[in-house]
Amino acid sequence: MVNILIFGPPGSGKGTQSVRLAEKFNLTHLSTGDMLRAEIAAGTELGRKMSSIMSKGELVPDEVVIEMIASKIDSTKDSNGFLYDGFPRTVAQTVSLEKMLGERGMKIDTMLVLEVDHDELVKRLIGRAEVSGRPDDKDTAVIENRIEVYREKTEPIIDYCRTKGIYQPVNGMGTIEEIFERLSSYLSPLV
Ligand code: AP5
Repeated sequence: MVNILIFGPPGSGKGTQSVRLAEKFNLTHLSTGDMLRAEIAAGTELGRKMSSIMSKGELVPDEVVIEMIASKIDSTKDSNGFLYDGFPRTVAQTVSLEKMLGERGMKIDTMLVLEVDHDELVKRLIGRAEVSGRPDDKDTAVIENRIEVYREKTEPIIDYCRTKGIYQPVNGMGTIEEIFERLSSYLSPLV
């Protein structure tokens, strides 16, 4: 099974592209943001605890998302592999994922990083606020904080993965279809 990271700042198109790629390549789409929002929607204790962290645009504790991912990996069958969207978000999460995969005879095969201009990220997220109902899309200050948290805590993963030879930047500007074709060209030889 292949393991592919779809990486990039908030609003770079990770979710949009992951849904399409998962369908085309028969991959299991694992979005920690979606999993956390499902906990909030279900009114679980975990969801209640994570809700205020997420609405400020801060990261939830590493152990919460690592646990979620491990249980999904172990319960997935009939798939060519996994597309990770919004995970890992810290170097510690990356190291945990590598360990988890190693124990199951797998590895991270590639990290596709969507590169999008700052102004375009903000424009996309403000646009989505109209329909998403996401509290973290509604306020420009929270959007800017999410981008800042990405630069500070998540971007260092790029250097970590570059040293392992799995870092692949992808132009994330253009139409959804254009970007989908670019990403597909990197996935086709792997899946
Ligand atoms: P998460 O749900 O992962 O949100 P995010 O990283 O902020 O990403 P977004 O969903 O905002 O953006 P995206 O890149 O998926 O873009 P999308 O395709 O939606 O995380 C939310 C929160 O959960 C975090 O802040 C944190 O609190 C917590 N969390 C989640 N995972 C965690 C983890 N591992 N560790 C700790 N905390 C975690 O596109 C955005 C918009 O742009 C859409 O409206 C879309 O239609 C539009 N769009 C997409 N592509 C294009 C295009 N080419 N042209 C025009 N519009 C486009």
